[in-house]
Amino acid sequence: MSLIVGNWKMNLNPHDASVLVHRLNEKIEAKEGTEIVLCAPFIDLYPLSKEINHKKFKLGAQNLHPNDHGAFTGEISGAMLKGLVQYSLVGHSERRAMGETDVFIAKKVAAALRNDITPVLCVGELLDDRHHNLTKKVIVDQLTTNLSQLTAEDISKIVIAYEPVWAIGAGTPATPEQIAPQIRTIRSTVEELYGEEAANVRVIYGASVAGEFVKTIMNIEGVEGLLPGGASLNYEEFAKIVSAVQELD
Ligand code: 13P
Repeated sequence: MSLIVGNWKMNLNPHDASVLVHRLNEKIEAKEGTEIVLCAPFIDLYPLSKEINHKKFKLGAQNLHPNDHGAFTGEISGAMLKGLVQYSLVGHSERRAMGETDVFIAKKVAAALRNDITPVLCVGELLDDRHHNLTKKVIVDQLTTNLSQLTAEDISKIVIAYEPVWAIGAGTPATPEQIAPQIRTIRSTVEELYGEEAANVRVIYGASVAGEFVKTIMNIEGVEGLLPGGASLNYEEFAKIVSAVQELD
């Protein structure tokens, strides 16, 4: 069972989003075992929910507020997204860079679960962390705080995405030698925090994913899916990613 999560980021108005999903619908065949999620901007989600083939695609948000309701001008909550999306990215590095703290992200992970939304928690190191041999520490610290509001049972309902920040938008993903130890770190940290069962948490990789890299990345032990950004905006490239994953499923 593989998971492909396309992160459209701040792109595509409702018209352009509709055009993209029509093309994706033509190009992509559903296959049991491969789950495809489109993380669209908030304004696109409702119209897309009426348009997409729900047998092929699931919808995801790119963010949500930790509170369910209230005086938070301009924000969108999990309670508002409930029923509309099945997934939401949480703690993406581009949001961490805007000032989201680990504690704030922990509340968002809990808010997603409270509203029956699967959080895709993004963790990963900056280039500077890597240069200072801090990669493992950064990932362990992020996970320890970001998951702090969950129970062991909750761990089976989340997805963790390893996104090395320095490889995002770089054109070339991190190498298997760079990815594999971090996937192990993610599983061993979650196991340490929540017990043996928790090591089965779903883990995916994101950063410069394109069709040509799918096999190499998916062959890394413990990688159960992909989180493409730029490539998810190009229907031909996204379809390539999907069919390459489907071949392996
Ligand atoms: P790119 O695939 O454009 O590198 O983006 C990755 C990403 O940030 C997905 O969340």
